[in-house]
Amino acid sequence: MFSILIIYEAENLELLITELKTSIPDIDVHIWPEVENPEKIEAIITWKPPLGIMSKFPNLKVIISLGAGVEDILRDPNLPQDVPIVRIVEPCVTSRMTEYILLAVLRFHRQAFTYQRLQKAQHWKPLPISKTSSCYIGILGLGVLGTDAAQKLKTLGFPIRGWSRTPKNIDGIECFYGRDQLKLCLSKCRVLVCLLPLTLQTKGILNHETFSAMPCGSYLINVARGEHLVEKDLLEALDSGQLSGACLDVFSKEPLPENHPFWSHPQITITPHIATQTNSEYWTQPIVDAIHCIRAGQTLKNVVNYQQGY
Ligand code: NAP
Ligand code: GLV
Repeated sequence: MFSILIIYEAENLELLITELKTSIPDIDVHIWPEVENPEKIEAIITWKPPLGIMSKFPNLKVIISLGAGVEDILRDPNLPQDVPIVRIVEPCVTSRMTEYILLAVLRFHRQAFTYQRLQKAQHWKPLPISKTSSCYIGILGLGVLGTDAAQKLKTLGFPIRGWSRTPKNIDGIECFYGRDQLKLCLSKCRVLVCLLPLTLQTKGILNHETFSAMPCGSYLINVARGEHLVEKDLLEALDSGQLSGACLDVFSKEPLPENHPFWSHPQITITPHIATQTNSEYWTQPIVDAIHCIRAGQTLKNVVNYQQGY
C-alpha cells in the first residue's frame, strides 16, 4: 500500500481519486483532515496547506504541488527539508497562461481601452496602429510559463526581452539576468509581464523604480503573485502617466476586498486569479509519474529548489 493525503479544497476530487486508484491499484487515498495514521502518509498532494502541518507526517517521501507557485508550501516553518517538493508542470496550464497574456498584450497594443471609451461616447475615430515591431515586451521570469509566452509573442512580431536569475540563451529573445541587468532590460519595454515566483528576492519588484525604468505610458501585466506589486506605486504611476494601464490577475489579498481602489480604477483591468487553471483531469498523469519515480527510487522531475524558493 502507498498512502497519499490530498490537502486541497475542491468540489470535484472524485475523478482524480478514481483515476489515481486505476493507475496505482495499491494506492490508499486520504483527504485532509481525515487521517487516522499520519505515519502511513508517504505523499501529500496540495497547493495551500495549513501552516505547520508538514511535520505531522514522519514517513513523508514527496510533496506534490498542484500549483506552479510553491510559496505557500515553503512558508511552513516545519517543512522537512529532506522531502522533495515536485511541481505539476502541465502543457494545458502553460498554454492557458500564454492565451491570457496574448489577450492582455493585444488589447493594449490595439488600443482596445480607447475604442471602448470612444464607443461609449458614440465617437467614430480611427486611430493610427502602432508598429508591432516597435512594441518591446519585457517578461520577468523565463521559466516554464515565461518562455512559452515569450516565444508565442515573438511569433506575432513583438520584440521580446526576458529577465531571469541565471543567464539564458533563447532563440530570438533578448535575454537579461540578475539585478544588474534589470534596468537595461526594462529600458525599451512598452509592456511588462510579471511571471516570477514569489521569493524574498522578487517580492515588491513591481515598484516605482521598475516603472520609472520603462518608457512613459507603458503597460503592466501581473499574472504572478499580488505581493510582487507595490500597490501604492502602481496607483502613483497611473496618476502620473508613467504607466498607461495595468492588467492584474493576482492580488496580495484574494478575493480582492470590496472597497479596494483597484476595483473602480479606470486604467486597471481585474480578473480573479484565472490567468490559467488546471482541471483534475490533467493532474493524474504527473501525480502518477511522481509517485512511480519516488517508489522506484528514480530521479523526480520539476523539483523545487528549497534554497532558491522556487
Ligand atoms: P518557473 O518555471 O520556476 O520559472 C521562474 C522564472 O523566474 C525562472 O526563469 C527564474 O530564473 C526566474 N526568477 C526566479 N527568481 C528570480 C530572481 N530573483 N531574479 C530574476 N529572475 C528570477 O516558474 P513558472 O512555472 O514559469 O511560474 C512562474 C510563476 O507564475 C509561479 O511561481 C506563480 O507565482 C505564477 N503563476 C500564476 C498563475 C495564475 O493563474 N495567475 C498560474 C500559474 C503560475 P532562472 O530561470 O534563472 O531560474
Ligand atoms: C497558480 O497561481 C499557480 O501557482 O499554479
